[in-house]
Amino acid sequence: MKAVVYTRYGTPDVLRFTDVERPTPQDKEVLIKVHAVSLNASDWEMLRGKPLYSRIMGPFRPHYHILGSDIAGRVEAVGRNTTLFQPGDEVFADILSHMGGFAEYVCAPENVLARMPAGMTYEEAAALPQAGANALQGIRDKGQVQPGQKVLINGAGGGSGMYAIQLAKLHGAEVTGVDNAEKLEFMRSLGADHVIDYTREDFVRNGRTYDLILDFAAHRSAFAYKGSLMRGGRYLYVGGSVATLLNVLLIGPLIGRAEGKKMGLLAVRLGVQHLAPLIELCQAGKIATVIDRRYRLSEVPQALRYLGEGHAKGKVVVIVE
Ligand SMILES: NC(=O)c1ccc[n+]([C@@H]2O[C@H](COP(=O)([O-])OP(=O)(O)OC[C@H]3O[C@@H](n4cnc5c(N)ncnc54)[C@H](OP(=O)(O)O)[C@@H]3O)[C@@H](O)[C@H]2O)c1
Repeated sequence: MKAVVYTRYGTPDVLRFTDVERPTPQDKEVLIKVHAVSLNASDWEMLRGKPLYSRIMGPFRPHYHILGSDIAGRVEAVGRNTTLFQPGDEVFADILSHMGGFAEYVCAPENVLARMPAGMTYEEAAALPQAGANALQGIRDKGQVQPGQKVLINGAGGGSGMYAIQLAKLHGAEVTGVDNAEKLEFMRSLGADHVIDYTREDFVRNGRTYDLILDFAAHRSAFAYKGSLMRGGRYLYVGGSVATLLNVLLIGPLIGRAEGKKMGLLAVRLGVQHLAPLIELCQAGKIATVIDRRYRLSEVPQALRYLGEGHAKGKVVVIVE
């Protein structure tokens, strides 16, 4: 089969579009013919080997040689001890713990798969898993956004932000989206009431405060974020620098306590089985999945470069023919 392979960390130039052996499903796995796979920041990070946490499975060389985790496709074959799926079933999944989506076929344990939501295309289903989980758990489950609250989403023009802005608006919040200048109009189109270009304005220094800061691109200190929270507000780190993560984890809970402010990590529960509320909203037409660009499998290097260089508005999807 065709796949996009890498054996050392680096730029998209280290990726090769080549022939590899088609995988065979283990007893509890199914073999999926991949139709669409969406890109995530985690693909970019695991390609580059930066930040350091992306090397957790392979400190010097990549552990997985094929990236790509958010897939949608059709079951081709099933392992001996599977019970849930049959060849021909249309499925989608987040296979972050196995990777291998940038290929014509991939094997995955049947318990991480779900049937494709009715009425969704392969590319829409592939866009959902990681970005949807980040947004749903950040805004609804952990963020517990209430009508009238002020919510700031940092890194709001990317995949997770696209869902997070729309969800926060549905919860009745006043939403501020922060991203680069290219994405301001995009964030407004999703419903953001206010937008900030982070290259021109530092939201931790403009004197405004929020009930919730959901941070997909954290690079400041816990002290800086604390100052932008209202009394009783909450800061949630989702992604960003390791230094900020450690800072938020170690001193965040202590420094906010006196003012009732909560600071911590959103450890996202991965798995498409948690996405039901978001899927219903998508099916009802209340939340849109915006796919900025589509690429072919052979164009994964270009697709990753587009995402990694910060141009992507919403999701980038690879269509596997
Ligand atoms: N906590 C968990 O359990 C968990 C689970 C899965 C993923 N994650 C993390 O969640 C994050 C969300 O990723 P995503 O899929 O939404 O990524 P994405 O599509 O790449 O979006 C991130 C956005 O942040 C922007 N950005 C970069 N630097 C910024 C800054 N200093 N200030 C404001 N915005 C900035 C990026 O634009 P530019 O680069 O163009 O500026 C981009 O638009 C990733 O960091 C990922 O590693 C966390």
